[in-house]
Amino acid sequence: MRTIISAAVASIAIATGPALAQDGDMAFGTEDDIAYAELLWDLMEAERLAGPNMIRAFPYMGTEPHGMMLETFYDVGTIGDHTGDLIVKRNFGPEGVSVDEVLSNPDGHLGAYTVMFRREDGYDPENLDWFWARYNPDGSIAENPMGMALAGRVARGMDEGCIACHQGAADDMVFTSDHLIAN
Ligand code: HEC
Repeated sequence: MRTIISAAVASIAIATGPALAQDGDMAFGTEDDIAYAELLWDLMEAERLAGPNMIRAFPYMGTEPHGMMLETFYDVGTIGDHTGDLIVKRNFGPEGVSVDEVLSNPDGHLGAYTVMFRREDGYDPENLDWFWARYNPDGSIAENPMGMALAGRVARGMDEGCIACHQGAADDMVFTSDHLIAN
């Protein structure tokens, strides 16, 4: 299965050429991306993966850039008529924070949510159609230092960012689990 997926990705990349040459559009942070990220937040709240009624898990030690203490949830969600894989990571801090400190006051230690949602075929075929987003604890969309909202194909064609780093993970671009490949 792994070989088949990576072969497909390689041929798509050859067929379409460099990522940004495709349409010249901004890869992320557009009005459409922000609107979609808001729908995604609503979905996460409804699934109790974010917001005031969220389900809690036992946090584990993480690495940069996601924070030193993490919770990760794997789900499937529907937006409009599209259903896709949804992975929500909660990032806790600051550096050196203990499990007990996070457990006793999770909201006080929550730094951000980083989220991957698999969109419809053709959204970003070279990167397995993942939609990337980073939210502040209150659900607002985080911005990079240039003031661009971190939502959409973040940051397609660039050397750093969600896509560049996650391309180093297994064939599904997911570090923590191979369950998407296995299915
Ligand atoms: C410099 C590398 C790097 C960058 C940049 C990065 N990530 Fe990650 N990401 C990781 C690593 C490593 C893990 C696994 C961490 C763990 O849980 O132990 C991870 C895990 C995740 C997960 C859980 C699924 C998985 O792959 O295991 C999500 C969701 C996620 N990242 C989203 C994002 C989003 C959204 C961005 C951009 C806003 C981003 N990441 C930027 C390295 C990176």
